[in-house]
Amino acid sequence: MALLIFFLEGILLLNTPIAIAFSAKVILTSAIRVEQPLNIVGDSEQLYRLVSNLIINAIQYTPQFGKVTVVLDRSENNAVIQVQDTGIGIPHQELTRIFDRFYRVNSDAYGGLRLRSRKTGGSGLGLAIAQAIIQSHQGSLNVQSQLGKGSTFTIQLPLDVTPISQFKLLYRRQPKFQ
Ligand SMILES: Nc1ncnc2c1ncn2[C@@H]1O[C@H](COP(=O)(O)OP(=O)(O)OP(=O)(O)O)[C@@H](O)[C@H]1O
Ligand SMILES: [Mg+2]
Repeated sequence: MALLIFFLEGILLLNTPIAIAFSAKVILTSAIRVEQPLNIVGDSEQLYRLVSNLIINAIQYTPQFGKVTVVLDRSENNAVIQVQDTGIGIPHQELTRIFDRFYRVNSDAYGGLRLRSRKTGGSGLGLAIAQAIIQSHQGSLNVQSQLGKGSTFTIQLPLDVTPISQFKLLYRRQPKFQ
């Protein structure tokens, strides 16, 4: 178990999303709407994978010169991370299926929109992995989308209220996560 202090800049500064956005000519920005860092108890590598899977999708399914914005906010008990894009969107009838393993939206469903995404050759696993990670952290993952306009994926993760001074104790009791 690790105490993750969510600095969203940290996620965006990681090389992979930045390099992908650069080569796809997509603008990647962040909006931090909290004054203080947010603490979440969880596996930091998995949480990084969760957020980066969503950011990479947003970039891949957004045409050139589109925009991907990662928002960090909080509600009363949750850290709220949104990955918004101005991309191709997802057909309404596909919104629940995209979280299934190996499921990829068929290009016909996009009504003839020209899709760079079809050339990405993904395996359809990214969102299934994201969903599994979110469930193991007692969080939630939701999507809203408008075909041809863009999508917003919203992660909610329970905030940790343990004072930092007690963290070592917590860690010693439960050294292993999973
Ligand atoms: N931001 C998005 N905008 C539009 N469509 C999306 C977006 N994110 C996911 N999708 C659709 O959901 C499908 C499933 O996404 P998922 O990340 O699970 O798989 P993938 O991106 O196809 O492959 P992988 O992530 O395994 O490389 C995608 O094939 C795509 O059709
Ligand atoms: Mg993906």
